[in-house]
Amino acid sequence: MYKLTGVTKRYTRGKETVEALRGIDLTIEDGDQLVIQGPTGGGKSTLLQMIGGLDRPTSGGVELDGVDLAAISEAKLTRLRAEKIGIIFQSFNLIPTLTAQENVETALVPLGVKPAERRERAAEALRSVGLGERLTHVPTELSGGQQQRVAIARALVKKPKVLLADEPTGNLDEGTRDDIMGLLEGLWHEYGLTFVMVTHDSSIARRAPRLATIKAGQITLTEQAGARRAVPGGDGRDHLPGQEQYAQQLYTPEQFTQEQYGAPRGR
Ligand SMILES: Nc1ncnc2c1ncn2[C@@H]1O[C@H](COP(=O)(O)OP(=O)(O)OP(=O)(O)O)[C@@H](O)[C@H]1O
Ligand SMILES: [Mg+2]
Repeated sequence: MYKLTGVTKRYTRGKETVEALRGIDLTIEDGDQLVIQGPTGGGKSTLLQMIGGLDRPTSGGVELDGVDLAAISEAKLTRLRAEKIGIIFQSFNLIPTLTAQENVETALVPLGVKPAERRERAAEALRSVGLGERLTHVPTELSGGQQQRVAIARALVKKPKVLLADEPTGNLDEGTRDDIMGLLEGLWHEYGLTFVMVTHDSSIARRAPRLATIKAGQITLTEQAGARRAVPGGDGRDHLPGQEQYAQQLYTPEQFTQEQYGAPRGR
């Protein structure tokens, strides 16, 4: 469960100050789906970064299961993200020089999963998003929708508790958007994920059980009729191959290749 209290975020650049978040209070139960909407520059991505532990608030607390992400050390935060939080972005953020399978594997590197198991779990995760036939393709050999599926597999391969998505269908055409949304909703439900998604798409927002509107750094919450909830810890979860995003921040493609195939000769 997430409990955000009085979260503010101020960006300072020279003399200029932007109050991106102005006191956000928000509770997200395990298994909830929350959709975040609002005008550009309102603070949606900033809030998602706080929830994902990618950045820290200027003030306030961001508790996940009683642990304040704003207060723990960088090392603990990195570990917590690697274990519990999967993130996907509008622009997929795949590493261009790695195959689909290797991209997915990067999520398991920080968790110390051995190479053979990593390969196996990455392949399984890719099969679960319908890409079992594309393991050895690099991103440029995949369509946008397929690239987002790889990113989803990377987010989920580690069996996270939380899935965060920042405009995951923003770069996709309508048909592909529906495919990806169907996939995300299915995964949310099947694995009992806590799922928080930013979108500009009002047709997606209309279907969300809970809607948060962020304007000028302030939040308004709406509960929508017909709310559905995933089953936390639902039994599918244990079978979910495991993912990740920040692997990119932690490991360069060179480090990854080195870890997998050994240090380059002659060093
Ligand atoms: N790293 C940063 N440094 C300075 N200002 C920033 C930074 N990141 C965001 N901002 C500012 O904070 C405000 C909120 O930005 P944010 O990216 O959260 O908006 P958003 O709601 O996600 O918008 P969009 O719909 O365009 O993605 C904006 O005014 C933005 O310019
Ligand atoms: Mg944004």
